Amino acid sequence: MVGLQWGDEGKGKLVDYLADQFDAVARFNGGSNAGHTVVIGDKKHTFHLVPSGALKGRELLIGAGVALDPSVLGEELLILPENVRRKLLIDARCSLVSPLDKEFDAVLEKMRGTSAIGTTRRGIGPAYAARALRLSPRVVDLFGDPKFADISRFYSSLGVDPSALPEWIEESKRVVAGLVGDVGSRVVEIGKRGGSVLFEASQGTLLDLLHGSYPFVTSSHTVVSYVPAGLGIPPSEAGEPLGVLKCYTTRVGSGPFPSEIKDHTSDQIRSVGNEYGATTGRPRRVGWLDLVALKYAVGLNGVKNIAISKLDVLSEVREFRVCVSYRHMGSETSNFHGSLGYLSEVEPVYESPFTMYGARYDSGLPTQAKKLVDYLEQALGVCVTLVSHGEERLRTIEL
Ligand code: IMP
Ligand code: MG
Repeated sequence: MVGLQWGDEGKGKLVDYLADQFDAVARFNGGSNAGHTVVIGDKKHTFHLVPSGALKGRELLIGAGVALDPSVLGEELLILPENVRRKLLIDARCSLVSPLDKEFDAVLEKMRGTSAIGTTRRGIGPAYAARALRLSPRVVDLFGDPKFADISRFYSSLGVDPSALPEWIEESKRVVAGLVGDVGSRVVEIGKRGGSVLFEASQGTLLDLLHGSYPFVTSSHTVVSYVPAGLGIPPSEAGEPLGVLKCYTTRVGSGPFPSEIKDHTSDQIRSVGNEYGATTGRPRRVGWLDLVALKYAVGLNGVKNIAISKLDVLSEVREFRVCVSYRHMGSETSNFHGSLGYLSEVEPVYESPFTMYGARYDSGLPTQAKKLVDYLEQALGVCVTLVSHGEERLRTIEL
């Protein structure tokens, strides 16, 4: 399952919903910057590192492509039922995120000044950078490799005090003890005995380090093609992708956002849709659906089936718009490319094909929602297989 926008498409809820059909749920990218929300009754769970299948009792896998912050994982496991820990397997190759990465994340943001990315300050950029520099300590290194000396010297040279490391290493060992193994082999093994695994992406396609709106992106790969690499399985084992889009767009953090809503409607959608960062609590920027960006995301991920989320929110909004192309230098284009200058210069061209105002979901899919499904299927060349119209598990319609 992959997000087709800038994250927060509603993947958490849908992973929980679909988890019944799978033996395991696996994360393959990102770290504790993710905030995957699952609501059951009046209880809200936000997952940062634990895969969102935890409340359905599934086997839970954290692949090598994840940057693992053991402190956050420890806190998450404290809140969750005790048996969740027993279901968890963490790949030995995961890079660790230490307090030094978080501190340096803040230093970098400060350095960028007015062009700050607006990161979640979870140390994601520094941890993946250290990995690329071959300085990053991995989960396996907690149990006896001198790699920590390198990262310690590295951060000292940058003016970040590494003295917190020894205590953090001891705490981290306690958190991951008994949970470490080879996730790629486990996924293949489950497949061999006829089982299946749901691969849960974090963030969204437009935040992909290579293919997103660089440099306003995260530092990992959020696209379908990273599933096999991030887990350590052959591409042939990666199965069929399901893309998720929200029926409007949000973005948290800085960066170009062509279909951003500039009037009071954005406040209304933010409030009805509770659009505040699940990790940081920041208000999310709100925009209309952007078909240009979505076509790009659908193409990049090779998605044939999609889920649409949060339709209930638009029932309370009189207006409904869809960005169908961009105007750039006097001409219209439907080309999305991540080039920063280009994306921040384009002007959205809108269509208002119908309104979703007043649509009710008590007895199945209302006519207005059916119109939206048809419209998106036509425009994106995909099949809509799931519609979500509320936070709760049961507010889901399979088509
Ligand atoms: P970082 O991943 O914390 O480095 O943040 C980089 C950018 O990605 C910022 O704009 C963040 O707001 C955004 N971002 C990171 N994780 C998420 C997420 O899970 N949902 C939405 N945006 C995210
Ligand atoms: Mg989120």
